[in-house]
Amino acid sequence: MIGPQVASGDKSTENIIPDTMRHTGPRHVAIIMDGNGRWATQRGRPRLFGHHAGARRVREVVERCPEIGVGYLTIFAFSTENWKRTQTEVAGLMSLFRRYITKEARALKEFGVRVRFIGDRVRLDDKLVKLMDELEQLTENNDVVHLTIALNYGGRDEVARATQRLAEDVAKGILDPAKVDQETLPKYLDTCVLPDPDLVIRTSGEARISNFLLWQSAYAEYEFIDTLWPDFSADEFTRLCEAYGGRERRFGGVTV
Ligand code: FPP
Repeated sequence: MIGPQVASGDKSTENIIPDTMRHTGPRHVAIIMDGNGRWATQRGRPRLFGHHAGARRVREVVERCPEIGVGYLTIFAFSTENWKRTQTEVAGLMSLFRRYITKEARALKEFGVRVRFIGDRVRLDDKLVKLMDELEQLTENNDVVHLTIALNYGGRDEVARATQRLAEDVAKGILDPAKVDQETLPKYLDTCVLPDPDLVIRTSGEARISNFLLWQSAYAEYEFIDTLWPDFSADEFTRLCEAYGGRERRFGGVTV
């Protein structure tokens, strides 16, 4: 593991971390998994074929995390804007999420992955929400990798929901409005227990963040790569994390 940057104290993989990554790799990586539709279209197949191929890439990337000292991985599976897609694609994606959870639960548990979901569950169907709750409970004692799946997630929606809860606490007299500062709001975000992402990767050549982790990524480093998500590999993931290790992060300050 990567010393002070990882969540668990497990030192079992210490000897296989490349020297370039010791103490310098990203602790939390967030990924916008884009390009499934184009990948399928290039093959003359329906878009859902691309989403299924995309879902198969997730395990390989999750399993690479402990080797390279990534303790937290957050993936964007469905945005608050994705409901605008055709009914067929939305229904297919929802069915894919149910299938993914059912099929992967045991492997995730055995690998030591702690799964969390972020996003608004209100619009999701009951069966899916039940599976999400069960997977969170099943893996709640794991800490090899913290996998967060953003499902019906939007950064603006998250901040709005957080602000609503914060305002409720003010109205109840639990929170003093004069004491609301940059430390207060994140406590109400879906990500309240997670560190901020160090590195955000977007596949498929688009250079935008599409409402993903807006508050949390204020000082993240970004990698926009051309690879379509179903072609993304654990080795490419490792290379991006290694490249991050060479960057200088100043958080608005200067290097002395
Ligand atoms: C963006 O590609 C991808 C999505 C909206 C869905 C992401 C879902 C997966 C990778 C699979 C499922 C994930 C889990 C956790 C089971 P796009 O459809 O916008 O691609 P395009 O830009 O080429 O059209």
